[in-house]
Amino acid sequence: MDIFSNPPFPVLGNLSPLYRISLLLVSTLLLAKILSTLFFRGAHKKVPPTVRTLPLIGGVRKFMNGPINMIREEYPRLGSVFTVHVFNRRITFLLGPEESGHFFKAPESEMSQQEVYQYNVPTFGPGVVFDVDYSVRMEQFRFFTESLRVSSLKNYVEQMVFEAENFFSKWGDEGEVDLKSELEHLIILTASRCLLGREVRDQLFQDVSDLFHDLDNGMLPISVLFPYLPIPAHRRRDKARKELANIFSKIIQNRRGSGRSEPDMLQVFIDSKYRATGRSLSDEEITGLLIAALFAGQHTSSITSTWTGAYLMKYKQYLEPVLDEQRDIMRRHGNKLDYDVLGEMEVLYRAIKEALRLHPPLILLLRYNHKDFPVKTREGAEYVVPKGNVVATSPAFANRLPYIYRDPDTYDPERFAPGREEDKAAGAFSYISFGGGRHGCLGEPFAYLQIKTIWSHLFRNYELELISPFPDIDWDAMVVGVKGKVMVKYKKRSLDV
Ligand code: HEM
Repeated sequence: MDIFSNPPFPVLGNLSPLYRISLLLVSTLLLAKILSTLFFRGAHKKVPPTVRTLPLIGGVRKFMNGPINMIREEYPRLGSVFTVHVFNRRITFLLGPEESGHFFKAPESEMSQQEVYQYNVPTFGPGVVFDVDYSVRMEQFRFFTESLRVSSLKNYVEQMVFEAENFFSKWGDEGEVDLKSELEHLIILTASRCLLGREVRDQLFQDVSDLFHDLDNGMLPISVLFPYLPIPAHRRRDKARKELANIFSKIIQNRRGSGRSEPDMLQVFIDSKYRATGRSLSDEEITGLLIAALFAGQHTSSITSTWTGAYLMKYKQYLEPVLDEQRDIMRRHGNKLDYDVLGEMEVLYRAIKEALRLHPPLILLLRYNHKDFPVKTREGAEYVVPKGNVVATSPAFANRLPYIYRDPDTYDPERFAPGREEDKAAGAFSYISFGGGRHGCLGEPFAYLQIKTIWSHLFRNYELELISPFPDIDWDAMVVGVKGKVMVKYKKRSLDV
């Protein structure tokens, strides 16, 4: 007896077996289709809209014209999620806290950095960060975290204060300086001491900073696409990287040999071991991680220090509360600056944070997408971002969204004060100058301590006036900073308490 001889639906009983099988197949397929539509909604969603450009080079031209210009043009037209074709790449922008959630939170198997940040490999060197697979990279980031713990930060602050006092003691009683270049210089001195160590700071500073200069100049916009292009800047970069490895190798061997321990990042790396293998870091890896730390922290911090000063000198209504806070703290702690005292500077913190909201030095963050994912825009559209796309978000654009920040282009540190806290209202990724989620900046506390130290020292000891026009943004730089000089007139005085 076949299964159709006693059919559940009598009408089928009159049909031939072949016809009945066909009918059953069709209805099963139909049911499967209905179920898949119901349960896998989104599987057939459309891809994000694409920026309309001339064929082939159109996207490149738009992109090279400045990614922020492009975003500003396309956002009103296409909304908060859209794709641009650059060469053979599709780059999908996710702009806004809701839209960028997956970007920041997804696991590495879905959103990875390695492919898009490959151009750092010749600078950082082999065996570190984007040259190693994710499990090793995670261990290396654990070494960073270790070196930036509160106990280490307390030591670093002592060195930051020492460097600031020493540096500004060379200013006269009054004069004019380019604040931008002064702060660049101070920050490299401080970074050398805290990160690279006493040997570099005290004996090898000039050699090492010249070599870093060559590394820096070897990272050009063209290097992002062609990191190994045989151009003079890349050749100098590679030579400098080799010489740095030699210098650090000698320092590391000396330290290992002498059994001496120093309060710096270098020491943490020397003492660290990979959990998976129990192996210590090689000299080459230590050199690479130190270079990575300097690249992550040096320009970003000096740029932020300069913007903070420029804004506070321009907007006296925000400078006064900063000075009042310094007075109040000095009444309670005297002239002392340490980790805990710096932690009390809430007003100065907000002044720095606001400068960094308006001017995040890293204007684009990138990932490579390994798996289709759905995204819903603020405007209500739903898309699927295809596997294989590069995905981008932009602190420089997202930090100024008008539905998050009132008068978003205005410098107003009080927007972060209790009661307003505009960055909290729209969720976790409303303020992304330090990124966020899985790869949020590990050096944020270090950066604030350093910038607060500098400005506390300056405000306590000098009267300052901005004498050049308020600076423009240098969009052409890899780490976007301040364009031209920032001339400041200073006069020594003690802040009246
Ligand atoms: C104002 C100063 C700084 C700014 C604006 C800044 C910004 C950022 C941003 C936006 C990211 C995320 C990149 C991404 O998602 O692709 C990041 C990551 C990172 N930053 Fe910073 N940074 C600063 C200072 C520092 C300092 C001083 C250090 C170290 C001493 C540092 C170490 C790192 C490291 C190790 C990461 C990688 C974290 C990870 O991928 O898990 N940064 N930073």
